[in-house]
This record gives sequence, structure tokens and C-alpha cells, in this order.
Amino acid sequence: MADRRLQLCVIEGDGIGHEVIPAALDVLAATRLAFDVRRAEAGWACFQAHGTALPEATLDIARHADAVLFGAVSSPSHRVPGYSSPIVALRRKLNLFANLRPSVSWPIPTSRPDIDLLIVRENSEGLYIGREHREGDQAIAERLITRTGSARVVRVACEWAGRRRRHLTIVHKANVLPETCGLFRETALEVAADYPDLTVDEMLVDAMAMRLVTQPERFDVIVTTNMFGDILSDEAAGLVGGLGLAPSANLGATPAPALFEPVHGSAPDIAGQGIANPLAAFLSVAMLLDHIGNRETATRVRAAVTEVLEHGPYTPDLGGDASTTDITDMVKWYIREGIRDRGKRDRGQPTAVWRSPWYLIPWCPIP
Ligand code: NAI
Ligand code: MG
Repeated sequence: MADRRLQLCVIEGDGIGHEVIPAALDVLAATRLAFDVRRAEAGWACFQAHGTALPEATLDIARHADAVLFGAVSSPSHRVPGYSSPIVALRRKLNLFANLRPSVSWPIPTSRPDIDLLIVRENSEGLYIGREHREGDQAIAERLITRTGSARVVRVACEWAGRRRRHLTIVHKANVLPETCGLFRETALEVAADYPDLTVDEMLVDAMAMRLVTQPERFDVIVTTNMFGDILSDEAAGLVGGLGLAPSANLGATPAPALFEPVHGSAPDIAGQGIANPLAAFLSVAMLLDHIGNRETATRVRAAVTEVLEHGPYTPDLGGDASTTDITDMVKWYIREGIRDRGKRDRGQPTAVWRSPWYLIPWCPIP
């Protein structure tokens, strides 16, 4: 990879995807990494223009890329014939079965301290398979859980836990859903038994939702099913500064490319105003760089983001009045100029955020 140009599939999507993704490409260019961009369409505007939210051409570009950078798409909250969420479809079609969503404390007042957790969300099954129908006044959804699907995502979580603080929490609701959650739990415990150096515990999802608020610092790696992971990861993002700072990686079996995206959606309430926080997209780029083995550049991007969070400026979601462009310019400046006068950091004595295993440990290969 080092002497080859990175081939990137870029899908901006809808809403603030058009703002944070161009900013992220700008930041990537500032690192001087050699890369080529192939743009592809997906989302609500794409559906309105072409009658499909995920064109075959997009899938084709994605499949032939080294990695995919994705913004966000808008999906209506009512049924539209022919439309379904293209990001959910993309994850399934590229077989990106593990969604890694880290939450770490940041040096800002709205972030709680001492948090360093990683939610590993099953990304291709569960309630999000979209098998729903109505029968008169009843609406019925199918929830698919498989042994294979559960085992592979739990294995990723175990690998990660082994490289972090060696603590895995399996989250489910098997007391009420003994078949679907039961199978997930049973498989998870079996797989985790192959990792004797981990401490493994389990928690019902409702209790987990509360514990995440009351004692977030006690968690290391959390593994759970698709919808629970979706919900808990937004909650976890809220503990450390919000969705404007939450990145994610969607990983599958090679040779499928991995997909990197901010956790947030298209944010129609602020789209087009130039005030979206681009840092979640930048941190997603850092995850992408880690994934392709360019740790040095990933670290430079994270260092620049950390510096901006320590000293400002801030977009409105973090209490400031800076624009997306102001933040982007500042991050680019730190990337270009390097971080000076940060004696501690330069001497390798990490600050709390810096010490996070998220920064220090390479992405594990997918088993
Ligand atoms: P959202 O994440 O778009 O926004 C939730 C709240 O957070 C809004 O108040 C928004 O302004 C704020 N926010 C989100 N990202 C921000 C950023 N980077 N900077 C500053 N503020 C930010 O979720 P919401 O409102 O529930 O959904 C909006 C649309 O996005 C829906 O159509 C939904 O289907 C879609 N969506 C798409 C996702 C994806 O493409 N992966 C994920 C989540 C939602
Ligand atoms: Mg979500």
C-alpha cells in the first residue's frame, strides 16, 4: 500500500454529508497521502434522481476501491415504495459485518472523563434486515440472528478486547427474546471461551443503557446485535461530546473494502448552513488510515483533532460559533505545521486522551 496510491470510493450522500466529506478529503490531502477519489452516489437525492437509493454503479465503485468514505444519507420515517436505507444495504452487500464505534474522552467541557470504550455492533442481521409487513392493524418485523453472524462479530470484539484492556461485555435481551438474543448470547459465550485472557461479562440491554450513563468508565469492549449497537453507540457518543465527534469503521472479510463513516446522520436541521462539525468525519478518516496500515498519518490527524478540541475553535454543537471551514482550516494547519510546544506529548508522555488504546493499537485483522 505504501508505494501505491490509495483508491478511495467517496459517497457524500445527503445533507451534511456534502459538507463534512469534502472537508475530510481536504484534510486527507493536507497529510500529503497519495490518493485517487472515485465519487459515487447514494441516498435520498439519488433515489429521487435515479429511482434507486443505491445504484449498481455505486456498488461497483465501492467493490473496486481500497476503502469507502461515506457521509450520511437521509431516510424518511415513513414507507416510500422502492426506497430502503442505502447504508444498511451497502453494509450488507459488502458483507461489512462488524461496525466499530469507539468513544473516548476528549478535552472539552461536554465530555465526561476517563471513557475509552469500543462498541462492536453486529452490522448485517438483527431487526435491520428489513423484513417487515402489515396484516390489517398488525405490523410484524422479523429479526434474523445466525450463529455464523454472531460468532464472527464476537470474534472481532474478542480480538479487540485482547489488544485493549481485556474486558468484554456481551449485551443482549435474552430474558425476553430467548431465541434470537438467546442464540447471540450462547454463541458469544462460546466464542469468548476461546479467549481465556479476557474477562467476560454479560448485561441486559436496558441495564446497559443505564450503566453507560452511570459508570461508562468501567467498559472496554461491548459487543451486541445490530439495533442495540446502533442505539447504545449514539448514547456513548453523547457522553463524550456528541455525534459531531463520533467516528466509525465498518469491517468485513477481505478482500471487500472497509467503509468508514461518521456515526451521525444527514442532520437536515443544520444542513446547508456550513456549521456541521466535521471532526467525526476526520476521525473516520483516521480510522481508515489505521486500517490501511498508515498509522503515522492516522496519528497526525488525531493529534490535529485533539489540538483543535483543546484550544478551539468550536462549531455550535460544541458551544462555539465556528464554521465547518474554520475547523477544517485549523485541523489542516496543525497537520501541515505539526504540533509544537506540546512538550509532554512530544516527549511521549501521553495525556489522558492520548493514552487511549484506540490510538496506540493497530486494527486487528478480521479473523
Ligand atoms: P442526525 O445524526 O442526522 O442528527 C441528530 C442531531 O445531531 C441533530 O440535531 C443534528 O443537527 C446533530 N448533528 C449530527 N451530526 C452533527 C454534526 N456533524 N455537527 C453538528 N451537529 C450534528 O440524526 P437524525 O436527526 O435522527 O436523522 C436525520 C436523518 O439522517 C434521517 O433521515 C436519518 O434517516 C438519517 N440518518 C442517517 C445515518 C447514516 O447515513 N449513517 C445515520 C443516522 C441517521
Ligand atoms: Mg445510528
